[in-house]
Amino acid sequence: MADFVTVARTSDLAPGERMVVELGRDFVLLFNIDGQYYAIEDMCSHEEYELSGGVLDGYALECPKHGAHFDIRTGEHLTPPAVRPVRVYDVRVQDDTIQIMRRKSS
Ligand code: FES
Repeated sequence: MADFVTVARTSDLAPGERMVVELGRDFVLLFNIDGQYYAIEDMCSHEEYELSGGVLDGYALECPKHGAHFDIRTGEHLTPPAVRPVRVYDVRVQDDTIQIMRRKSS
């Protein structure tokens, strides 16, 4: 059964910053927005391109390759050319660590 896995320390990721972590074979893009953490797969659902270099506007992350946008809170695709969401992870803080778990529905 899947469980939360420690991937970083809170001191590694200041508000406004992002980082890529590994969870098994997945690369996961982790954000700190005003002290809230969000995590999505670091892979666009359109053509398998890393999202980590994309511009973030609010909660909308733009894919650097063709410009599709994704909501980092839900993984939902917001604009074409993406037609599918990206995987999203649940995030929790335990003491000074950041832990993530692959969300069941994604
Ligand atoms: S690869 Fe991301 S929009 Fe095309």
